[in-house]
Amino acid sequence: MTETTALKSGLLADIAAANNLAAVEELRVGALGKQGVITALLKTLGGMSADERLEKGPAIQDLRESVTAAIAERKATLEQAALDARLASEKLDMTLPADIGPVGSVHPVSQVMDELAEIFADLGFSVATGPEIEDDWHNFTALNIPETHPARAMHDTFYFPDVDGAAQRMLLRTHTSPVQIRTMMNQKPPIRIIAPGRVYRSDSDATHTPMFHQIEGLVIDRGITLGHLKWTLETFLKAFFERDDIVLRLRPSYFPFTEPSVEVDVGYTMVNGQRVIGGSDGWLEVLGSGMVHRKVIEACGLDPEEWQGFAFGTGVDRLAMLKYGMTDLRAFFDGDLRWLKHYGFSALDVPTLSGGVGA
Ligand code: DAH
Repeated sequence: MTETTALKSGLLADIAAANNLAAVEELRVGALGKQGVITALLKTLGGMSADERLEKGPAIQDLRESVTAAIAERKATLEQAALDARLASEKLDMTLPADIGPVGSVHPVSQVMDELAEIFADLGFSVATGPEIEDDWHNFTALNIPETHPARAMHDTFYFPDVDGAAQRMLLRTHTSPVQIRTMMNQKPPIRIIAPGRVYRSDSDATHTPMFHQIEGLVIDRGITLGHLKWTLETFLKAFFERDDIVLRLRPSYFPFTEPSVEVDVGYTMVNGQRVIGGSDGWLEVLGSGMVHRKVIEACGLDPEEWQGFAFGTGVDRLAMLKYGMTDLRAFFDGDLRWLKHYGFSALDVPTLSGGVGA
């Protein structure tokens, strides 16, 4: 047996015995790598005489081809075995229900705010925001509620401690109405905005929490009348409650920032002992509104002879309770997962007017 055939059978035996890919690679480098034994043999061909090359060349070439093929084959076999082992151990039953871990839901307050933004966007309103830490002037004075006005006491305001040298007292806004002021001062009419957000009052029982949500609406333009207000509210409430039989009752009322002021009731029907919005068996108060007081328009630097408008404000949490049938407001903010699961909305149910806002 020549040296070459001995090397060949030795290498082929080693390759056949290699039982992992790293061992095969080690053999490949030892035989065919830069410093490999076969590579070295191939290099000797150059220095041989023509006769000698004719005699030894074919065996060396055969050695190279056989070893290359054996390595490729062994590698393929080992790779297939590894894949088979993985397939056998990693089973996936596609018919099992998906387990995607704990899934959150959209809070009814967020859902209702999205619904409101969607409805009012369709009516040409944009969304405005303002700070929750507000100053006295924007929260009260500019809204025609001067220092001595009894309405200040009605608001159960959280004030911040007085700061020496500060121009005015800071407070947690008691309503979203200061956003009216900020919008009129920063934006040229015509104005059509809604301002949803958190408000704060020192009050707590089944229907009051120290923090709650309101939405404000404001329209400022030329020639705006109470008729525009009534149509807008009616259109909004029909879209929100997703019923055509919404009946509104406008009652004269009083707010310092509107003149005249109207309180808006919506009719309900009793169905299986529950109040359902629609019809007119009874009335629920849902909104405060009115024509923006000329003093408020003036306070914002606009001429009330030229610009008029209407405003409205209501509780977002209250709207959510009326639409989705919750009874205790405090549960909104307890963070109880069972409540959130029951009353929460899917993140994929984005409200749209065409698909139904309360989808
Ligand atoms: N700001 C009032 C409140 O918190 C709600 C309100 C009533 C807002 C009448 C308005 C309005 O814009 O016109 O009770």
